Amino acid sequence: VFKSIRLGPSRSPVRVCGVFAEAARVPGALSDIDRAAGGALARALKTPGFKGDLGEVRTADDRHLLVGLGREADFKAASLRTIGARVVRALDRMKASAASFHIDHALSKKTGPTDRLFQNLAEGMALANFRVDSFDGSVTKREPSLGALTIVAARATQRDGLARGLALGESTNYARRIAATPPNICTPAFIAQEARRMARSTGLSCKVIDYREAVKRGMGGLVNVGRGSDVKPCLVVLEHSPPRARRAKTIALVGKTITYDTGGYSLKVNNGMKGMKYDKCGGMAVLGAMHAIATLDLPVRVVALLPAAENMVNGESYRPDDIITMYNGATVEVTNTDAEGRLVLADALTYACRDVEADVIVDLATLTGGVVVALGSWCAGVFCDDDDVRRRIDAAAETTGERVWRLPLWPDHREFMRAKHADLWNSGPKRDGHPIQGAAFLSFFVDEKLPWAHIDIAGVSNVEADTDLFCLGPTGYGVRLMTEFVESYG
Ligand code: BES
Ligand code: MN
Ligand code: ZN
Repeated sequence: VFKSIRLGPSRSPVRVCGVFAEAARVPGALSDIDRAAGGALARALKTPGFKGDLGEVRTADDRHLLVGLGREADFKAASLRTIGARVVRALDRMKASAASFHIDHALSKKTGPTDRLFQNLAEGMALANFRVDSFDGSVTKREPSLGALTIVAARATQRDGLARGLALGESTNYARRIAATPPNICTPAFIAQEARRMARSTGLSCKVIDYREAVKRGMGGLVNVGRGSDVKPCLVVLEHSPPRARRAKTIALVGKTITYDTGGYSLKVNNGMKGMKYDKCGGMAVLGAMHAIATLDLPVRVVALLPAAENMVNGESYRPDDIITMYNGATVEVTNTDAEGRLVLADALTYACRDVEADVIVDLATLTGGVVVALGSWCAGVFCDDDDVRRRIDAAAETTGERVWRLPLWPDHREFMRAKHADLWNSGPKRDGHPIQGAAFLSFFVDEKLPWAHIDIAGVSNVEADTDLFCLGPTGYGVRLMTEFVESYG
């Protein structure tokens, strides 16, 4: 991979030339380039097997790369992400140091504004140019990173789009890097420290409600879930409050940040624990989105809440049958210590309503295995009864390619979460529809009139095999989605 991708000038960039599928000859717009290259493009186009499928690449010579754009009728804005991903890998193999793009002839009104297309291209490049190498040791076989890759923009609209795409890609990769950090290093204290560091470098404000204060405030959800760990839980509060947005709406983004989920005394069995370092991905999505929101300096007031805890087992841990009192005064009978996410989120949601006085709340959480069964890794599940907020989320998802699908949350579901010996239980006696049970539980901690969305990202927060855009590991799902969502209020 490249150490970084940046914009700039270059004397001899690799010219990346786009051709639609089944093109009989080099498009007219590229004929000057082809002539200067001594017909290398035409020869590459004719190489046996080259069809011009989306993202298919052929090296024409060491200064020219041919990339397939797929069928013209199927060409859309999202195609540019795939193209960016495939091209950056080809440039990597060529050990290129600079590239320019020659695809203008393929762009039309139908595919959308140029800056948007070039943004997607850069997003694809940045997302594909990522690997987890912080833990390469003395016997690694991986090649060291190449230097920087310079992208040469032909015009201002291209440059703006590329710059934005690179910024969003970088914020996403930042979230992925921390998401991949293992639980022996990435503890709640580590999260707090990292949030402070990131805030300082981007100009956000950061406050941490530590364990003692959480106990004092009566945050029974956060405190009980995190109590069994040697590293105690905390609530990280980040704020982006540009002067021009002081009187505007306040958006609260809440992210489940369980640095490790053993299940607690309702222990995860049969190696079901493996991979639970990704149980902090909701929080990492919010952290990455705040990184982007600050970097792009969006004109919106946003407060991020990361309830960070490690769900462990020791003599102080909470147990099934405990009845605990939450920050909002609700009592909860703990029926399953493995339904811990909703407990830490609940207190953060109360904090968003009471202390932040948010106007809109969105939470992201790797909340249930059930949503993975229902929706797989194709999309996240979204619960939101506010039409305006849901439309904004749908629109953002359409733009970024981070897909969502609506699931129901009805009064019957809410009633199902009422317990016999306390106000609520954190998990019902049967597993029926348990992504909905999670959402229903959370709804008791949000002021009834407030627009709120809960996004269950358990199926999309990490991938188990390499894809076009993502290598095995965390995807940073939600970073671009939440940035786009927040921007819709700007
Ligand atoms: N972090 C898990 C959910 C999860 C499972 C995420 C698999 C990713 C992959 C969550 O805390 C959990 O344990 N949920 C339980 C809920 C149940 C106890 C109601 C689950 O999904 O089984
Ligand atoms: Mn759990
Ligand atoms: Zn969990």
